[in-house]
Amino acid sequence: MTIAAAPPRVTQTRNLIDGQWVEARSGKTFDVFNPSTEQVIAQVADSDAADVDAAVIAARRAFDEGPWSRMAARERGKLLYRLADLIEQHADELAALEVLNNGKPIGEVRFADIPLVVSTFRYFAGWADKIHGDTIPVDNHFGRFFCYTKKEPVGVCAQIIPWNFPMLMVTWKWGPALAAGNTVVLKPAEQTPLTALRLAELAQEAGFPDGVINVVNGFGETAGASLVKHRGADKVAFTGHYQTAQHIMRDAADTLKRITFELGGKSPNVVFADADLDQAVAGAMTGIFFNQGEVCCAGSRLFVERSVHDEFVLKFAAAADARRVGDPFDENTEQGAQVSQEQFDKVMGYIELGKQEANCVAGGERAADTGWFVRPTIFTGVTNDMRIAREEIFGPVVSVLPFTDRREVIEQANDTDYGLAAAVWTRDITKAFALADSVRAGTVWVNCFNTFDAAAPFGGYKFSGQGRELGAEALKAYTETKTVWVNLGD
Ligand code: NAI
Ligand code: MG
Repeated sequence: MTIAAAPPRVTQTRNLIDGQWVEARSGKTFDVFNPSTEQVIAQVADSDAADVDAAVIAARRAFDEGPWSRMAARERGKLLYRLADLIEQHADELAALEVLNNGKPIGEVRFADIPLVVSTFRYFAGWADKIHGDTIPVDNHFGRFFCYTKKEPVGVCAQIIPWNFPMLMVTWKWGPALAAGNTVVLKPAEQTPLTALRLAELAQEAGFPDGVINVVNGFGETAGASLVKHRGADKVAFTGHYQTAQHIMRDAADTLKRITFELGGKSPNVVFADADLDQAVAGAMTGIFFNQGEVCCAGSRLFVERSVHDEFVLKFAAAADARRVGDPFDENTEQGAQVSQEQFDKVMGYIELGKQEANCVAGGERAADTGWFVRPTIFTGVTNDMRIAREEIFGPVVSVLPFTDRREVIEQANDTDYGLAAAVWTRDITKAFALADSVRAGTVWVNCFNTFDAAAPFGGYKFSGQGRELGAEALKAYTETKTVWVNLGD
């Protein structure tokens, strides 16, 4: 076992409300686990409606009357830049804590999570003083008017995030919200609150005024639901399961909150016979096994053109068998542990189902006696109507489906409730564009997979979401447009 550059250290387990770190009012806590050892690593504040109420009141006050509401936009940007700098300075410590709490491999946290976290804050920092409206030429039939629009912050934003990218999800929520001048109440996932709490400590150090950033820990049905229902919150941004989103939409109806959702997927990854097969195999590996398959846009339905199907599957299965699964603190590890007992059980359940429905050609079992490790698992002989091809498994499990022509594969790719992402592997530009045009999904990758940038919008069609995160698009969800008419007289 290789020891991470900085040993993981739990610095904070409480709620951040109005600049103070406080226990839940009830005094209750819940256990947080290390997925690779199944050991309890922390007891975190277990919040309910009373804690949420205090956090929303603080966020409301900071928005309506605090120094935040009078701060120049450029100063807000400076705070976000400062937070990015602090994260960079504490990168080793944050990476180790993320590995400890989520189970993902340290190499990937350094390569993917940390750089994306830093660049997301820097990207939105740059937007802070560039969010502005338009001047609008208006019909002078009613008189002479000067008409302009302003972009104003929405207000208090309730932000509820999942456990698969615990730090990165914080940045996708805080970045655009804070750049646009909102205040936030974040509820981290109950499985992985630790890095979000450390980020909140760093935000305090960066100088965000009290009440601008609040963090309330706890479960979805208690803390999460109270936040969604609270009259003092203007907007809810949620990432997670579509059924939770349906629940949230109903709960948010009474207060008519603005809503953005980033939900799951069953993304088609399409390999044509003319593709560079080795590149496509590597893409299929990244597509499904990256982050233990706990990725909303995972390429979990792999369509392979029939003429290369057998050759592709041989190479793919060999690569999956060779994947190094184990201790996430080992620099050589490629795949760590699933996040929780619940997720491990869910994934193993789908693997058992897959063995009844299809052929298992790689994996199909747990990877260690202790820790929630699962072998990279490949099913062949899958048809699009099987449950393993329709339901989100959210683990290292992929279904391979053969196809014969372009029209057929496009039809099957779209035969899903989801529409988050898709990928195509081909040397033929016309096939690439045909797929990019016809797939109803928010992101299409051509000869690549899982590429991300803070500037590139991300989000889903259909059951995969509502609105977009990242890029200039994200700012739309965090601003209201005000139209001002000025009578210029005769
Ligand atoms: P979930 O959607 O229940 O949880 C995500 C977040 O929502 C957590 O912070 C949770 O506490 C909160 N939440 C849960 N119920 C809530 C409610 N009634 N009101 C307000 N907030 C609530 O997801 P869960 O149960 O952790 O995972 C179940 C499945 O969801 C996974 O197996 C996976 O298929 C999918 N998922 C998708 C993600 C994505 O990135 N699209 C991320 C995490 C899970
Ligand atoms: Mg749930």
